Amino acid sequence: MFLHDKNIYMNPINKELLQQFRSPAFPGSFFLSFEGIEGAGKSTQIISAKEYLESQGFRVLILREPGGTPFGEKLRQAILNSKTELEPISEAYLFASSRAQLLTEVTLKELNVPGTIIIYDRYIDSSIAYQGIARGLGIETILGIHSTFPLNLMPHKTFYLKISLDTSFGRQRVRNSPKDYFESRGKDFYENLVTGFETSCELFPDRICVIDGNRGLDEVFESIKAEIDELIMKKDEQ
Ligand SMILES: Nc1ncnc2c1ncn2[C@@H]1O[C@H](COP(=O)(O)OP(=O)(O)OP(=O)(O)O)[C@@H](O)[C@H]1O
Ligand SMILES: [Mg+2]
Repeated sequence: MFLHDKNIYMNPINKELLQQFRSPAFPGSFFLSFEGIEGAGKSTQIISAKEYLESQGFRVLILREPGGTPFGEKLRQAILNSKTELEPISEAYLFASSRAQLLTEVTLKELNVPGTIIIYDRYIDSSIAYQGIARGLGIETILGIHSTFPLNLMPHKTFYLKISLDTSFGRQRVRNSPKDYFESRGKDFYENLVTGFETSCELFPDRICVIDGNRGLDEVFESIKAEIDELIMKKDEQ
């Protein structure tokens, strides 16, 4: 089945559903996420962002999903080491369960401390790309699952590190680590992931900032830093 025609997922999404999603208002604190396919540079750039933000006086916490809580870590092992293919809907709810716990047990509590930055290494846009498009559930199903508190909380800014499949496969080859549940997939799967991320960008243009991740590390970080500076400055003016 070819899922590249993203219009089949765009048509049924109504505005009311999209309006369920909000960024939390926490004075002096920010919620960020990094998205992109494998090898996009998320984990690498998150470390640079953390160092930079700490140099600006923020307290920075990096969170990953599934995981980050004792319950979430158990789910993480169950999903990533799974030898059997899970139903897409099972996968979507497992991620959502872990996410809801992490949001209430960690994210919301920590954001209450002024001067905190929470950075997620993947968040809702990965659910849209992986379970929504690549696994064929449809974007509306993913948005529907996330439309209830606390899952409807959106980052203030999301960095989508956009890379070509050649770049992704090249970096994965260099890394040469054993493939996990999601990485042992073919080119079609990755093309669908890209379609998913791009659809997310269209649905949430204010939140998601597209960064060309094919460039060198420093150049990529300069683009991210410029966006971070703008975000911090805007908040100061409020
Ligand atoms: N801009 C870049 N130029 C060259 N190499 C890069 C760049 N960004 C990341 N890399 C390298 O590519 C590999 C993958 O990067 P990284 O682990 O940050 O990606 P990721 O998006 O977190 O991937 P995953 O989704 O698999 O966790 C690493 O070896 C990293 O050093
Ligand atoms: Mg990573």
